[in-house]
Amino acid sequence: VAEIDLASLRHNASTIAARVAPAGLMAVVKADAYGHGAVACARALSPSVWGFAVSLVEEGVELRRSGIEGPIVVLGGVYGRSHQDVVAYGLTPVVWELPEIERFARAADELAAGRVSIHVKVDTGMARLGVRAEGLPALLEGVKKIPGVTVAGLATHLADADGKDESPTVAQLDLFTKARAQAAAAGFGGVLTHVANTAGAVRFAGARYDLVRPGLALYGGLPSAEVGPLELRPVMRLKTKIVSLRDLASGERVSYGGHFRAARPTKIATIPIGYADGYTRRMSGKAEVLVDGKRCKVAGAITMDMAMVDVTDVAAKLGDEVVLIGRQGAGYISVDELAAWSDTVGYEIFCGISKRVPRVYVEGPRS
Ligand SMILES: Cc1ncc(COP(=O)(O)O)c(C=O)c1O
Repeated sequence: VAEIDLASLRHNASTIAARVAPAGLMAVVKADAYGHGAVACARALSPSVWGFAVSLVEEGVELRRSGIEGPIVVLGGVYGRSHQDVVAYGLTPVVWELPEIERFARAADELAAGRVSIHVKVDTGMARLGVRAEGLPALLEGVKKIPGVTVAGLATHLADADGKDESPTVAQLDLFTKARAQAAAAGFGGVLTHVANTAGAVRFAGARYDLVRPGLALYGGLPSAEVGPLELRPVMRLKTKIVSLRDLASGERVSYGGHFRAARPTKIATIPIGYADGYTRRMSGKAEVLVDGKRCKVAGAITMDMAMVDVTDVAAKLGDEVVLIGRQGAGYISVDELAAWSDTVGYEIFCGISKRVPRVYVEGPRS
């Protein structure tokens, strides 16, 4: 079970809002709110944020069908055949190419939907999406000739705002300042501007503009030690229960490949979570969990559906709670630790927690 604490989610949103004011929040709830459940998180955040950002049209449609109102910006920029869906569901597409903008104008015309609002993305150094800065004036001149389209926003994305070296971000912000001046000269001066992810929002006052786009910080995480401090609360607590216990003699082995060998008489607990749940096999031999508020090591290879834990030194019985992320008693395991054990980032751990782990929503931290 992934227990999601909506009170802490709201606390994090207001902490970020206080840091970036007067900028507003475009809450990033793509990838199912980084595994926390997009609909429930968006509902909880709705009263306190300007709007939401998703990556896919489908994610935006899911929010709308669940009754989420207000702006939903589609960051991913891949629209396939879904231009009419974008218009019909009142999503705001991020775009950077004239043919794509023409398709939205056509979709709005076909649906008799009035004007369609778009946000234009500029590539200032991420080299992923967006018009290169030097191409922006021509793009904007082209947009003026397409009837029925309103440029409502101008955006870029920071590639390195959590890095030790601030200079790549400063360079991106300089380039964006120039792009913004060009947009103003072309008559698009007053449009909503958004640039900053969590790291940009927390660390670079000059990146805040009208709106910031935090994701990770909403869920209680910071992308690196360079970012912060910020008084955030963890939102997810990943927990399970002991489903089997056995006593091994010295020398007995555990799990596929027998990579764990008992160095003493050892008690092994089996927990029903494995790599199919997102508890990645790469953590085998490194991961720790909490049992009775104390850290215990995962023993041997993490399997698809289960993992084994060395509980020799704790009081453990069948059915006892085991915490894999979050607090239990005096113990705490952060998502960053799981990221370090598996050589990745907290983002990937959160997003990797699979569908078959039920999300349970609570108000206030549990322990
Ligand atoms: C375009 C864009 N903006 C904002 C974010 C949010 O980033 P973070 O979770 O670091 O705040 C992301 C996340 O990857 C993104 O792709």
